[in-house]
Amino acid sequence: MIRKKVTVVGAGFVGASTAMALAQQNLTDVVLTDIIEGMPQGKALDIREAGPLIGSDAEVIGTNNYVDTQGSDIVVITAGLPRKPGMSRDDLLNTNAKIVGGVTDEIFKHSPDAIFINVTNPLDAMAQIIFSKTKLPRSRVMGMAGCLDSTRMRTFISMELGISVENIHAFVLGGHGDTMVPLPRYATVSGVPITELMSEEQINRISDRTRKGGGEIVKLLGTGSAFYAPAASVCEMVEAILLDKKKILPCCVHLEGEYGVDGLFVGVPVILGAGGMEKVWELNLTDSEQAELKASADAVQELVDILGI
Ligand code: LAC
Repeated sequence: MIRKKVTVVGAGFVGASTAMALAQQNLTDVVLTDIIEGMPQGKALDIREAGPLIGSDAEVIGTNNYVDTQGSDIVVITAGLPRKPGMSRDDLLNTNAKIVGGVTDEIFKHSPDAIFINVTNPLDAMAQIIFSKTKLPRSRVMGMAGCLDSTRMRTFISMELGISVENIHAFVLGGHGDTMVPLPRYATVSGVPITELMSEEQINRISDRTRKGGGEIVKLLGTGSAFYAPAASVCEMVEAILLDKKKILPCCVHLEGEYGVDGLFVGVPVILGAGGMEKVWELNLTDSEQAELKASADAVQELVDILGI
């Protein structure tokens, strides 16, 4: 079997945790790249040295040179500044747009056949930059947000009910911001919607905590944003692609009319397989859910308009 290659751009907390989680999965070699000299090399070697203990033969290398990313199957972009307390994800717009734009140009030169997964915030707008710069088909550019927002919601449901996370599924749609749309009707415990298992008060509390989930961590950390659950969320997407699973996961993708949104990256459930985003999975939404999704898409559109793309 030809070994797969996943490049992670940015060796900060999110990037390094993603590289570690990918190594643990043992499905692909990993290239960790960053502009800071020595740092990606050090972190990659540290991960590699865990190999015998975690049972992973993944080759993990660190580099400051884009040449080493040549021929990647998947590129995960985490480069950019994280939020500090009091900042919204949108406050990062202009700084991270420059960083993600520059990274995309370089990476794309060396890996024109890759599938791109953006993690840098504001996540939906940054995915739009990658899409507009590379002009790749929409199946090969996406953002990781829905998996993270949904895993948070699943965790809170599990904590509330005292039931295994394995039994709990949830979809959070929309942009990765304060307007994201948790969907209680489609959140289930072993197939039973939570609307049948919890009071409205409980559901509202969980939805609200989900919406503010990133901010809750930022406030606690004081110096940055979440990285363990984001890394695990990236791995879920990478695994679905590398194993051609045809798995339904909420991801940030370029909508072209689905869900009443056209020409914009917004989070919706999609089918992930070897081709990347193989299909947008359309759920029936109530009028109020649809209105919430529209408001969330409008918030993403505002950022894209500022960027002028
Ligand atoms: C979060 C940040 C990383 O949701 O967007 O944790």
